[in-house]
Amino acid sequence: MTLGIKLEDVAVEFDGHIALSVTELNLSAKSIAVIGSNGSGKSTFARLLNGLVKPTRGAVTVSGVNPDTKTTGFLFSNPDLQIVMPTVFEDVAYSLTNQKLSKDEVRTRVESALTAVGLIELQEANCHTLSSGQKQLLALASNIVREPKVLVADEPTTLLDLPNTKRITKLLHSLPLEQLVIVTHDLDLAATADEVIWFDAGQVKQVGKPATVIPAYRKHFE
Ligand SMILES: Nc1ncnc2c1ncn2[C@@H]1O[C@H](COP(=O)(O)OP(=O)(O)O)[C@@H](O)[C@H]1O
Ligand SMILES: [Mg+2]
Repeated sequence: MTLGIKLEDVAVEFDGHIALSVTELNLSAKSIAVIGSNGSGKSTFARLLNGLVKPTRGAVTVSGVNPDTKTTGFLFSNPDLQIVMPTVFEDVAYSLTNQKLSKDEVRTRVESALTAVGLIELQEANCHTLSSGQKQLLALASNIVREPKVLVADEPTTLLDLPNTKRITKLLHSLPLEQLVIVTHDLDLAATADEVIWFDAGQVKQVGKPATVIPAYRKHFE
């Protein structure tokens, strides 16, 4: 049983302006898509889930704990923001810094993460020589090597072409996670989730099955 994502009486304010306000939310589906217009609070919600944003008021729990970067991995749209080391292998290994693992354990975990995303052949490559699709796969490997329970991806396919979007979508759904949260404007991608949450002006407008929420969302903007 998954403990899920729970928000209780949560508000997030920036400079006195309420960016997000949620009375009660319980998400227990395996995969969740987050949709809504620009500025509706999607990224604020996503960042609450790994503790990057702290609630001004209320309580958030993810898999039964206060959000932190150990429980929740995070994938940005722009992988350049997540690449910190010169080579592919080093970049993924860097994510294991401070985990007190032996060199052999690090190698095994990095190789397994790179194999999972299909980048093992490029482990010695310079990160800057990778295509944007490959960079996003690298950022994904750097996340999964830490074995998070939950992965939040904030518009992970925005910079990708159709084949790479399909590849990342398939990979995200195949990861051994308790929950996957995908923030996206791509309604085809949103439709791959078990549950969809629609944010509007910092509030939850609707939560439900993709077959219910996505047509309602489209209709709202007709
Ligand atoms: N760090 C921040 N400082 C000030 N305002 C912010 C910050 N992050 C988000 N906001 C504001 O909060 C609102 C929601 O933003 P965001 O969650 O990024 O929306 P979305 O991801 O749906 O486009 C917007 O009005 C945005 O300007
Ligand atoms: Mg955003």
